[in-house]
Amino acid sequence: MSNMLYGGDEIGALVFDLGHYSLRVGYAQEDTPKAEIPAVVGIGEDGNCNSVRGEPMDIDDKRPDNNITQSTPKYYVDTTILHVPRKGMEVASYMKDGMIEDWDHFEKVLDYTYSKVIQSNAEYHPVLFSECPWNVRNKREKLTELMFEKYNVPAYFLVKNAVLAAFANGRATGMVVDSGATHTSAIPVQDGFVITGGICKSPLGGDYISMQCRQFLQDNDIDLSPSYMVGSKEVVKDHDKPRWVKKKNLPEVTKSWHNYMTKKLVQDFQATVLQVCETPYDEKSVSTAPSVSYEFPTGYRQDFGNERFRIPEALFDPSVVPMRGGVVGNTIVGVGNIVTTSVGMCDVDIRPALYGSVVVTGGNSFIQGFPERLNRDLSMRIQSSMRLKIISANGCAERRFGSWIGGSILASIGTFQQMWISSQEYEESGKSQVERKCP
Ligand SMILES: Nc1ncnc2c1ncn2[C@@H]1O[C@H](COP(=O)(O)OP(=O)(O)OP(=O)(O)O)[C@@H](O)[C@H]1O
Ligand SMILES: [Mg+2]
Repeated sequence: MSNMLYGGDEIGALVFDLGHYSLRVGYAQEDTPKAEIPAVVGIGEDGNCNSVRGEPMDIDDKRPDNNITQSTPKYYVDTTILHVPRKGMEVASYMKDGMIEDWDHFEKVLDYTYSKVIQSNAEYHPVLFSECPWNVRNKREKLTELMFEKYNVPAYFLVKNAVLAAFANGRATGMVVDSGATHTSAIPVQDGFVITGGICKSPLGGDYISMQCRQFLQDNDIDLSPSYMVGSKEVVKDHDKPRWVKKKNLPEVTKSWHNYMTKKLVQDFQATVLQVCETPYDEKSVSTAPSVSYEFPTGYRQDFGNERFRIPEALFDPSVVPMRGGVVGNTIVGVGNIVTTSVGMCDVDIRPALYGSVVVTGGNSFIQGFPERLNRDLSMRIQSSMRLKIISANGCAERRFGSWIGGSILASIGTFQQMWISSQEYEESGKSQVERKCP
């Protein structure tokens, strides 16, 4: 295998883009990932082994040969299968702080990816992985080891997701503003490398907004029963009592799974209803803005006005919404602030190039008005002589999958082919090479 030609186009390199919300995976050179797999696994004790996509993975650890009945966990991966109510199935994330935390669960997802999504042997495809800019050495080495030792990949490479997002927008230098599920970060990139000393991030991302939405909806007595519970329903409006009937014979689901399904509902609400004001939120000016109607799975429908703008305002001005559970918003800074702070930590000479290419990426930046508000906040904060350009891909896939697309482009460039760590190099020099070859 070691003499194999591992060029992007000869064999079809794979690109994996990791996040807390999902894992994006597909072939290099393609425009969009082949699959987006939720970054969680369902862990249950029932289920049958099937082999089609969307069916449970039979990846149970070897059963003992004796007759002692020992329960062996079954793993459930990917949307179709995760969304089926099952008795006792727990849902767990394998990510923490942008990095892989639970390697066993992560491997279940990789196994699934190769067998059900790619449907090909791992040893045929070079693999390019994205990583968060603050990934740590032992995790980088561990992933390298896993890919070569367990999956026998012919070649491997690791690149910072911000660099890939910049590439996807045709930039090797720029300020990448990534608003994902768990955080929003400002990552300065110069000539294809992250300026590590300039990384700035805040924990205000899509999950925070989901939490605020959920709180708001519960405070307003809105029934958040997810659709798996709803049998029949009638559409009722504006503070009428919802009229719906619970599905019969529902299995006894776990709290973690129910919460997961409720979060999906809230995420849909936030994507449909929320909007960021172009200027700082003020009750009076938004009271004239159009409201948006949303129908919950129970059939209850309501129009949402001011709160559409008030909730996401926290991203730009965290002081407006105090966080429950102790942390108060104003100890955290807004998006505009993390960008200027990040630029401020970079060399003076590079600052114009950073402000000249502010690349907006990540699913949470899809909240309507996000790039416009960032543009406004930044122009208020920086000198008028500084040229400011916000680059936010209009197409859904381009912004949502910015890092993945950048990886797809990079892995198929001719001059990149000599950059891969080959299995031969790995055998000769080991996992520590990733630090040298993939800075
Ligand atoms: N159209 C939309 N409008 C608003 N929010 C959206 C939209 N689509 C996705 N989101 C939110 O974007 C977030 C996911 O973004 P993304 O896929 O960039 O995250 P990730 O890279 O997996 O996570 P992280 O960067 O935290 O590791 C979720 O919070 C989701 O609710
Ligand atoms: Mg992300």
